[in-house]
Amino acid sequence: MTQHYIDDVSGQLHVHGSPYLIRGIELHNSTSSSAEYLQPLWRRFVDAGVNTVLAPVSWELTEPQEGTFDFGLVDAMLAGARRHGLKLVLLWFGSWKNGSSSYTPSWVKLDPERFPLQTDASGTPLDNLSPFSDTNRDADAAAFAAFMKHLSIVDRRDGTVIMVQVENEVGLLGAARSHGADATAAWEAPVPAVLVGALRDGGSPHVSAPAHTTSPSWDELVGDADRKAELFMAWHYAAYVQHVAAAGQAHHDVPLFVNAWLDSIVPDETGASDAAVAGGQVPGVYPSGGPLPHVDIAWKLASPSISFLAPDVYFGDFGIPFQAYADTNRTLFVPEMRADGHGVSHAFLAIGGYGAIGVAPFGFDSLPESGTLDLRRVYGQLAALESEVLTAQARGRVCGFRVMPGEEQTVRLAPYEFAVRVHTERDAGEPSGHGLLIQLDDDTFIAAGHNFTVDPLPRAGHPVAILRAEDLVIGDGRLSPQRRLNGDETFAGTRIRVAETPAPMHGFMLTTGTLSGVVRFSLYSRTAETAARTSSVLVTAQDRR
Ligand code: DGJ
Repeated sequence: MTQHYIDDVSGQLHVHGSPYLIRGIELHNSTSSSAEYLQPLWRRFVDAGVNTVLAPVSWELTEPQEGTFDFGLVDAMLAGARRHGLKLVLLWFGSWKNGSSSYTPSWVKLDPERFPLQTDASGTPLDNLSPFSDTNRDADAAAFAAFMKHLSIVDRRDGTVIMVQVENEVGLLGAARSHGADATAAWEAPVPAVLVGALRDGGSPHVSAPAHTTSPSWDELVGDADRKAELFMAWHYAAYVQHVAAAGQAHHDVPLFVNAWLDSIVPDETGASDAAVAGGQVPGVYPSGGPLPHVDIAWKLASPSISFLAPDVYFGDFGIPFQAYADTNRTLFVPEMRADGHGVSHAFLAIGGYGAIGVAPFGFDSLPESGTLDLRRVYGQLAALESEVLTAQARGRVCGFRVMPGEEQTVRLAPYEFAVRVHTERDAGEPSGHGLLIQLDDDTFIAAGHNFTVDPLPRAGHPVAILRAEDLVIGDGRLSPQRRLNGDETFAGTRIRVAETPAPMHGFMLTTGTLSGVVRFSLYSRTAETAARTSSVLVTAQDRR
C-alpha cells in the first residue's frame, strides 16, 4: 500500500496514512554531494524544528558512467535523516536545473551529437538538453528509474522519502523556444488535439485555438509569438518530464512534483540581473516552458504523473504565486522560499491563508545561528500546533496573514471577523506581523505567530469581546496554558496581542508580551441571543483551571 499520497479532496499530503505539515528547509545545491559535509548539519535542522529536508540527488553523481549507478549519497542521506527522525524530499537534478543542463553526467555533456542541446534563433547552442530528443529523454528516464527502484528497495519499510521533485526549475533560458531542427519539426507539427480542445475551452490566458482549422500547427495558434513559443516548450518539457516521472513511479510510488522559476519582478536593490538567478518578464529571460500557472494546461495534460506544480518564491508579493498555485492545484507547496526573516514571515500566510502542505526556505544550512531565529520561532509554533493546523486546514477553519506597519487586514472565521494589525515596529529585522488564527469551535480560537494584534469586530452592530484568554507555552513540543490574560494584556477584553516583546500602553504604562506567541481565547457578543447562551457557558464552564 502507498505510504505517502496527496489526498484528492483536501489536497493535503498524507505521510504513513496521516496528514502531514512540512516544516522544511531546502539544502544548498552542493551540500548533499558530500555525506561528510552534510553529517554535522542534521542536528542543526532538528534543533531548528525542521521535520523535512529537501535535498538534491544529481544525475552526474548517481550515474558517473553510463549504466553504472552509485547510490552511496542517497543511502547516507537516508541514514542521516532516519537517525535524526527527519523525512526527506529528494530533488532529481537530471536533464535540467534552473533552465540549464549543468547536472547531466560528463558522458552526456561531452557527447552533444548523441545528446543534443537546444539552439537559439542564430543557431548558437544553449546549455539546455533538447526535450525533443528521445535519446535524452530515455537516458534521463533510465537513471531516474534506477534511482526510484533503489528507493523502493532501501526505503520501502521506513518511507523516509515522502516526495520527489522531478528536475529543477525546468525551462529554456536564452530564447523563448528552441530553433534546432528537431524543435522546428515539432513546431510545424499539429498541436495535440487534447490541447487544442483545452485551448478552445479557454485553458490559456494568452493563447487560443484558431477558428479556421481543427488541427493547427503551433504557429497557427492565436496569440503573441513568445506566448505561443512558451506554451510549445511547456508541452514538450512536460511530455519529457512525464516520461521520466512515469519510469520512476513504476518502481516506487510517492508523490512527484515540479517546481518553477517564477516570472517575478526582481527588485533593483538586489543587484541581481534577471537572467542570473530569478525573475524576468519575458519567456527565455525566465525559463520558457517551466511549470508556471499561465501554461498549467500543458503541464496538467502532458504530465499526469506529476501531482502538483510548485512555485519557488523569492521576490515581490508572495501572495500572488501562493494564490495562483493554490488555484492551479488542489495542493500548494513552496519548495523554495527566502530563508531570511522576510521569507520566513510568509510561512503562516502560505499554510493558513492558502492551505499549503508546507514551506522550505532555501539555504538554511549556510545561515549563521543568529540568522535562524525567525525560522526557529515559526517552526516551534507550527510543530506545537501541527494537529490543530491540519484539522483546521481540512475544515477551512484557519486563516493566515502577514501585515505591515500602518496596514489593517480583516480576517473572517464565521461567525466572527477580526482586524489584524502589526503590534509594534520592531527596532531591527522583519517589521511585519504574521501569524495564524485557528478556529477550534464556534467561539474559541488560537492565535499564533509574531508581532500582531487581533481585535474582534462588532457583529450586527453588537460589540464582541473576549470571554477568556490564556497564553499557551510550548514545552517538549506540546502546548499548555500558563497565564490567564486579562486587563492590560487584553486591553480590557478587547484585543489579543501576540508579540514576544512588551510594548508600553500609551507610550508609558508597562505591559507584558507573550513569549510563546500562542494565545487561546474565546469570544462572546452582546446580542440578546448570545447573552443568554454566554451566561449558561459561564455557569457550566467557569474557571475550570
Ligand atoms: C533556485 C534554484 O532552484 C535553486 O536550486 C538555487 O539555485 C536557487 N535558485 C538560487 O540560490
